[in-house]
Amino acid sequence: MKRKPLIAGNWKMFKAEAEAVLFAEELALRVGDVQDREILVCPPSVYIYPVLHALTNTPVMVGAQNVFWEDQGAFTGEVSAPMIRSLGARHAIIGHSERRQYFAETDETVNRRLMACLRSGLTPIVCVGESLQEREAGRTLDVVGSQLKAGLAHVKADDAPGLIIAYEPVWAIGTGRTATPGIAQEVHAFIRSTLTGIFGTGVSAAVRILYGGSVKPDNIDELMAQADIDGALVGGASLEVASFERIIRYKG
Ligand code: PGA
Repeated sequence: MKRKPLIAGNWKMFKAEAEAVLFAEELALRVGDVQDREILVCPPSVYIYPVLHALTNTPVMVGAQNVFWEDQGAFTGEVSAPMIRSLGARHAIIGHSERRQYFAETDETVNRRLMACLRSGLTPIVCVGESLQEREAGRTLDVVGSQLKAGLAHVKADDAPGLIIAYEPVWAIGTGRTATPGIAQEVHAFIRSTLTGIFGTGVSAAVRILYGGSVKPDNIDELMAQADIDGALVGGASLEVASFERIIRYKG
């Protein structure tokens, strides 16, 4: 099955508002002609609105970096999926390893956030990935498999084709150490076969699996050449327009 590639930028907690809007305007000018791949930027939530506004009528979509699992209530400081959706955003990153590491995110809370996204029409980008210690102990596939099974619990097969999974080995995030295309492909193929086990072949063939972890202009082409890599979730290299454009325009 042909899956439309998605190149997504995760800005994390970077950029001032004016910078964010300028970036969006410049990116839109540079990639306005791109049609065969989807483009997404995920700014800090306070910039979603101005960035969306700057990207109106362009091919660049806007997403959130997280959502809370309740739709509304007395949850000081939280932002819900319907709130994000009502701005016009279409995607949300869920379960990023930095949230797992610094904000006590677990597979169970990932699942609750994921269900909140589905309820409100946001496409969740569910992040999974092993730590260096887990990889060295030979536990990569166990860890990724159980993150997937628990993270995707309660998802109906009808909703599953709309999911996006991001494989982000923790040891490759922000470290300059990318998984080799072969290592990434091995885990992506495993993720697809796990999805087949949960939802069946039709669904697993439709789900896009992004790679994330030190994606750069000089490694994107060979990553995207792998059969089960359907896009990238880019941190550091998405903060600069020229490098993000080169990643969007990967050759393949
Ligand atoms: P990086 O981050 O590209 O800076 O390694 C990727 C991510 O955390 O999504």
